[in-house]
Amino acid sequence: MDIFTGNNAGNLIYAFFAIIIIILLAVIWRYRKKLNKMELVSLAGINMSSGAQQKLIQRIMEVAKQQVQAEACSLYFVNDETKELYFGVALGEKGSLLKELRFKIDDSFIAGWVATYKKTLNIRDVDKDKRFRNREVAKNFGLNEKSFLTMPIIFDGKLVAVLQMINKQNGRYFSKADEETMEMLIDKQIAPNLEKARVYSYMQELFNDSIQTIANAIDARDEYTQGHCTRVAEYSVMIGKELGLEFEELVSLRYAAVLHDVGKIGIRDSILNSKQKLTKEEFEEMKTHVIKGAKILEQISKTNPDIVYGVKYHHERYDGKGYCESLKGEEIPLFARIIAVADTFDAMTSNRPYRKEFPEEAAVAELIRGAGTQYDKRVVDAFVRCFEGQN
Ligand SMILES: [Fe+2]
Repeated sequence: MDIFTGNNAGNLIYAFFAIIIIILLAVIWRYRKKLNKMELVSLAGINMSSGAQQKLIQRIMEVAKQQVQAEACSLYFVNDETKELYFGVALGEKGSLLKELRFKIDDSFIAGWVATYKKTLNIRDVDKDKRFRNREVAKNFGLNEKSFLTMPIIFDGKLVAVLQMINKQNGRYFSKADEETMEMLIDKQIAPNLEKARVYSYMQELFNDSIQTIANAIDARDEYTQGHCTRVAEYSVMIGKELGLEFEELVSLRYAAVLHDVGKIGIRDSILNSKQKLTKEEFEEMKTHVIKGAKILEQISKTNPDIVYGVKYHHERYDGKGYCESLKGEEIPLFARIIAVADTFDAMTSNRPYRKEFPEEAAVAELIRGAGTQYDKRVVDAFVRCFEGQN
C-alpha cells in the first residue's frame, strides 16, 4: 500500500504531517550540505569553520602583524547580548591565556573605547595617555605594552570585532601608513570572512534547532517516550566515537539516530499509546514505521543513503530475526546496528506502559546477553566500554 493513501482519517493526518516534515527537512538539508564541508569548532564562543574561516583569519592576522611590524596582535569579538568583548584570536606568547578573558564594553580601556566610539585609535605611548587607566590585562599577564593601533571591524554598519596591533617593533610607534594597510586588510579580508563565519554559525544553529524540533514532534506523539530521540542520538554518537567514526560520519549518525522513529508519525495514536500489549495486527502496523521513516527521508537525502538505512534497518537483529528485511550480521548497515543498541538501552531504562524501567546496570546486562544474537557484539562492547568509563 502506498503510504500516502489509505482508507482512514489517520492516514490523512499522517500525509499532512509527513509533507510538513519533508518540506522542513528539505530546507535544512540544503544548509547541511554546505555545513558538512566544514569542521565546526568553537572559537571563543563562536562556531566557526576551523578549516576555512578561522585559519584564514589567523593567517591574515599573521600577515598584518608582519606588515605593520607589531610584536603581538589580538582580535576581539563582540557579544551583543552581554555587551562584552572577548579574545577571538590572540597571537603572541600569552595568546592562549588571553582567550579566557571577558570585558564589559566601556571607554575605560583601549579596545572598549574603540568598540564604544567605532573609531580607530593610534596610541604612541599608553602610559602617557590619561584615558586608559584600566590596564589589568597588561598587569596580570606581565605584558609590557606601549604603542597600540586599534581599529573597529564594521560590517553592514554593525560592529563585529575589534582588531588590535600591539607594540611596534624596536620601540617605535604605528604610522598613518600602518593604519591604511590595516584598513585595507580589514575591508578586503577580515570583515567579509568574519561575517561568513557568523553566517555559518547561524546556519548550524538553525539546522540543529530544526532537527531537534522534528525530534520533539516525534516524541510528543508518544506520551511514553519523551526525550527518547534525543537520548538515542546521544548514545549513538557516543558509540560511534568509541568505534572511531570520522567527524562527518558522526554528524550523519546523529541525524539518523534523532530521526530513527520519524515514521511513527504514520502510526495510529491508539497503537502508539496502547497501554496493552499490541495484538499481532497492531504490531504489524507498528513495524511499518521503519519503512515509512525511510520513505520520508529518501525523498530528501538521496546523496546520503547511510541515514536512510540507519532509519530503515534499526529494528533488524544481528541473527537475522528482526524486521523489515531480516538482514543478518554485517548486511545490516553500521548506523542501524548502532542505533539498535542505543534505542534498546533507552527503551529499557525508560518507563513504558507495560513495564517499569530497568536499572541501567540490568539494561547493560541485557545488551551483553543479546550480543552476537540480537545485537552486533562489537557495538555492544563499545557501548559497555563507554558506560563503564562513565560510572
Ligand atoms: Fe523504532
